[in-house]
Amino acid sequence: MSERGSQEPAGAANGSDSPTKQAPRPPVGNRVTVVLGAQWGDEGKGKVVDLLAQDADMVCRCQGGNNAGHTVVVDSVEYDFHLLPSGIINPKVTAFIVVVKRLGKLIISDRAHIVFDFHQAVDGVQEQQRQEQAGKNLGTTKKGIGPVYSAKAARSGLRICDLLADFTQFSERYKALAQQYKGMYPTLEIDIEGELIKLKNYVERIKHMVRDGVHYMYEALHGPPKKILVEGANAALLDIDFGTYPFVTSSNCTVGGVCTGLGMPPQNVGEVYGVVKAYTTRVGIGAFPSEQSNEIGELLQTRGKEVGVTTGRKRRCGWLDLVLIKYAHMINGFTALALTKLDILDVFAEIKVGVSYKVDNQTIPYFPANQEVLQHVEVQYETLPGWNSDTSAARSFEELPENAQKYVHFIEGHVGVPVKWIGVGKSRESMIQLF
Ligand code: GDP
Ligand code: IMO
Ligand code: MG
Repeated sequence: MSERGSQEPAGAANGSDSPTKQAPRPPVGNRVTVVLGAQWGDEGKGKVVDLLAQDADMVCRCQGGNNAGHTVVVDSVEYDFHLLPSGIINPKVTAFIVVVKRLGKLIISDRAHIVFDFHQAVDGVQEQQRQEQAGKNLGTTKKGIGPVYSAKAARSGLRICDLLADFTQFSERYKALAQQYKGMYPTLEIDIEGELIKLKNYVERIKHMVRDGVHYMYEALHGPPKKILVEGANAALLDIDFGTYPFVTSSNCTVGGVCTGLGMPPQNVGEVYGVVKAYTTRVGIGAFPSEQSNEIGELLQTRGKEVGVTTGRKRRCGWLDLVLIKYAHMINGFTALALTKLDILDVFAEIKVGVSYKVDNQTIPYFPANQEVLQHVEVQYETLPGWNSDTSAARSFEELPENAQKYVHFIEGHVGVPVKWIGVGKSRESMIQLF
């Protein structure tokens, strides 16, 4: 059925004189609330999910694997999550995942691809080869994510449904895949028989958790009202299609990944919250236009305790880059932002914010796709006055110093998306809610 503009006379499109009736639409059902990283990861998605999970029924991971590292602090206890969604701390919540490494209240999609130990080993070997052949690697987390997504695209991957069906057939496909990798990487050692024994043991341990993922989501969306959260892993600039390719992860970490990962229609996507760190960090290799390889970057790194949860690597640091955030918003359509780690900026007399890029002295209105171009953009900054005071005790927007309030308003004005939360500390309590 076509939508009608107000100028068009009723019935004109089908040539009849009868007024067109709106065909009844099937009910949409529940809508999921999505939390996505808007930079290069580690924005504090886990903490936002933990907050929202207080009254949620279900938390889902729709992409990525244990390359993610989400730290949540509750009652001074620090929890690190890699594969499981952060919301699982809440005993009421059911967690649902779609890519599996190790085997509460956890539901695993039967269409989830399995990351085998050899995928992880191959990740390491590939990084070594990149280093040897091209003089630089990608700086992956070496968790096997690239190899498992490559196997998925090459249609040689194995899924949970395969593991749980006929184990003889599964074993044959596993052996073929292992041989394929051994052919490509002769140094690779795979204890095929030993791995198969381990995998067979997993069957008994996980089978009660496995569901047909599409049916499970459909029931959750169309049953009684439910609060369903989707916890994004990785982030927009690490997205395989829209990130700073090739220095990206191998999944879609932008909003499309919610539908393709969980097997649900776009009309069931409700709020899309973008998590934005008040400055920028990046782990691993790749262009980073607002990076501060100086004492400013060091201060952000030490104050923000910017060390990767998954790899223990120091995160590179720089000023907030709103060109990135606007780009992430174009793709994700954020309905609101969570601005985290504002407290880390408490000691700066002046704070710079990247607002546009110049290439060959010309301002460009888009985010460059090519890495060599991105390496050479000239970031145009606005300098805002700092607030030089401790914000960590603030619990309302009004309690923040005026210049901190202005910083928040500057971001909102520039991106065109309201800030709903402001993080001023690690704990669950140190999150100011604005509306
Ligand atoms: P994620 O991968 O997006 O979930 O983020 P990570 O957990 O990897 O990194 C964010 C880090 O910042 C964690 O150690 C959090 O405990 C911490 N954090 C989150 N929000 C805030 C905040 O508002 N202030 C401070 N000081 N730390 C925060
Ligand atoms: P969370 O969910 C930060 C980066 C890696 C590397 C690149 C590719 O904690 O925000 P991969 O192992 O995925 O093939 O590595 O992507 N990376 C992340 N950086 N936070 C993450 O997740 C990341 N997940 C992947 O450092 O540069
Ligand atoms: Mg992280």
